[in-house]
Amino acid sequence: MGGPADSAPPAGHGESPGASAIGPVHCAPPMPADVDPLERRLLAHPHLLGDIAAAVGGPFHVLFPERVARNVTAFHEAFRAAGVDGFVYFGKKANKAACVARACAESGAGIDVASVGELVAALAQGVRGEDLMVTGPAKSDELLWLAVRHGSTIAIDALDELARLTRICAGHDQISRSTPPTRTGGPTPAGRPARILLRIQPDGSTSRFGLDRAELAQALRSAPAGGPVLLSGFSFHLSGYDATARADLAATLVEHCVRARADGHLADTISIGGGFGVDYLDAGSWTRFRDTSSEKWFHGRAPGQDYYPYHFPVPGAAMLTAVLAHNRLAEALRTNGIRLSIEPGRALLDRAGSSIFRVQGGKTRTAHGEPYDILTVDGTSLSLSEQWFDSEYLPDPVLWPARPGTITASCVGATTCLESDLLSRRRIPLPRRAQVGDLLVYPNTAGYQMDSNESTFHELPLPPKVVVREVDGRPGWSLDATAR
Ligand SMILES: Cc1ncc(COP(=O)(O)O)c(C=O)c1O
Repeated sequence: MGGPADSAPPAGHGESPGASAIGPVHCAPPMPADVDPLERRLLAHPHLLGDIAAAVGGPFHVLFPERVARNVTAFHEAFRAAGVDGFVYFGKKANKAACVARACAESGAGIDVASVGELVAALAQGVRGEDLMVTGPAKSDELLWLAVRHGSTIAIDALDELARLTRICAGHDQISRSTPPTRTGGPTPAGRPARILLRIQPDGSTSRFGLDRAELAQALRSAPAGGPVLLSGFSFHLSGYDATARADLAATLVEHCVRARADGHLADTISIGGGFGVDYLDAGSWTRFRDTSSEKWFHGRAPGQDYYPYHFPVPGAAMLTAVLAHNRLAEALRTNGIRLSIEPGRALLDRAGSSIFRVQGGKTRTAHGEPYDILTVDGTSLSLSEQWFDSEYLPDPVLWPARPGTITASCVGATTCLESDLLSRRRIPLPRRAQVGDLLVYPNTAGYQMDSNESTFHELPLPPKVVVREVDGRPGWSLDATAR
């Protein structure tokens, strides 16, 4: 690629109107993200990122599977330190890269899947069927059937789903057919009972997920001990990131297990879902932004105030330790011989990937008497999902390559016809003026940002995933299996 230095500034993008000697006034404060050491080396390398960008020829995501493995190990370590029998299922919806699933298989984690596609993709990367947890509402017959065939655990979300599973278990073995199983009698599809957890809806919750009290009682009557459906235990997934709420509800699930055992059920497992926080920003950056945020920092309208808690002081595995310590949950699990499963998505992807866009153009606008740059990159905000929840992804993009310059307030727009399609509505204090051909590296995007909203709108290609690993003492790259 002609290096960024070779590219001329776009029309109307001359000498630093977006900057002043003391820096821009109407501009968000800097919010730099800490990144994995391998990413730091990638950013510091003089050519590698530019070489990848040239080879791909459009926006792309990088992933660091070794980081995923280390994040899994941290959770395993938290279980070990608390003396608890625990199991980690990666919430696959958070990222569909094959290298992430492979890292899970290699580091002893299972995967939480919620569709046939996710189940098949997890198996393809070597995760065994018995290490899959099937979640999600109103699962299709095909998903239920495959789950039973592969000995996976199924988190039952509704009574009619349990009824369908029971019928499927009573159906003929259909492994050689592509059609869903028949509903007439016969052995279970796997020749063994279907392992289930009953997902509960917390008392007082208005969630559309899980079984309320009455439904739970009915489900227990519909799945008697010794039947085709084996009650392994109970589960929940809470929105939010509160350790105490999770520990309290987990204690209730332990009581459910004890009662179910008295009725002859196995009931030796509980799953407390995901929601382990990620610490994207240091405390100072986050509180400064949250407490002093101004409409004047944004191009157009400011997003709503419903931001992810970008500074999260007790994140990931440390949050698991806090859950286990609360009201001696670890002891209750040990005493009752109960395994604790967790389904972290975002937390297993912490610092495990970034999203890279090329600056394709730029212009200057003025608001509140101060100029600022609007950059246009070669992709869309659909590859940075947070923007689609009337919010903003706050960790600052890194402008690559690093060069001396003047701090310049810059927003980042997408190469689409939508006025509101901005990757960053806020004016970011970039350390120098961005030029056509520069790269913007949005850090720590592997958890949900990359692909949960991706779209080929405008017939733009989807950004491929690039795997970066340490090879012979330096970062090396290859295309992820999903991009080949
Ligand atoms: C059932 C279930 N488990 C796990 C997760 C993963 O949550 P997180 O990525 O916040 O850890 C989700 C996310 O929606 C979920 O619905």
